[in-house]
Amino acid sequence: MTTSPVATADPTQPVAQRLAGTRVVVTGGARGIGAEIAIRLTSDCARVAVLDRLVDDGTALAARLDGCFAPADLADPASTASAVEARSLIAANRPGKIINIASMAGKSGGAGQAHYAASKAALIALTRVTALELGASCITANSLCPGHILTDMGAATRTDDDVATWSTYSPLGRLDSPRDVAGVAAFLASPDSDYLTGQAINVCGGMHMG
Ligand SMILES: NC(=O)c1ccc[n+]([C@@H]2O[C@H](COP(=O)([O-])OP(=O)(O)OC[C@H]3O[C@@H](n4cnc5c(N)ncnc54)[C@H](O)[C@@H]3O)[C@@H](O)[C@H]2O)c1
Repeated sequence: MTTSPVATADPTQPVAQRLAGTRVVVTGGARGIGAEIAIRLTSDCARVAVLDRLVDDGTALAARLDGCFAPADLADPASTASAVEARSLIAANRPGKIINIASMAGKSGGAGQAHYAASKAALIALTRVTALELGASCITANSLCPGHILTDMGAATRTDDDVATWSTYSPLGRLDSPRDVAGVAAFLASPDSDYLTGQAINVCGGMHMG
């Protein structure tokens, strides 16, 4: 999932209005972490567009946020391109921020999760390449690395014992919530992060500290 805000906010504004005038695209934003990011950035006064393949959920969330929804299969380059074509960050020649949602697994691995951990490690590397290539266009790129979050992802196989065990991995004694990730995404979307690029930021309650 990628969140692509265009930051135009005035750094002297109160935090709750810091994203006024900012346009944000939240890919995979119809539910879960993406939906929480869309809600948080809207509450910070950004205008949010949700891209997702879940048409009913995406449409309902966009209506609730007074934003817009575009159906897109992000696994299909043509579908994705047509959905984002009208707010291309580079073509708009404006500063922008790309926030990729990687995972703690991209750093620490995970038994039985070779494909997932490898894809998240690749996303962390892709984020660094993006930061190098787009820095001259005033576009930053960072990734977030959440730990375990009780969304629909993995719900079919997750047990109460898993949740109890995973919670002990954090010095804080609990799992992430989508809101934890959305708060850091809001920071990355704000002018406070203007000199941050190419980073892979852990949002995992200290489960992984590297
Ligand atoms: N839940 C966790 O524990 C956890 C931990 C670390 C990282 N992550 C990462 O966070 C991101 C979001 O995960 P989540 O837990 O919110 O999952 P989720 O399943 O609740 O939400 C994923 C969203 O992405 C959309 N989506 C998926 N594939 C799509 C496609 N091809 N085209 C359009 N939309 C598509 C879904 O429709 C859904 O709205 C993922 O990249 C996941 O790997 C999740």
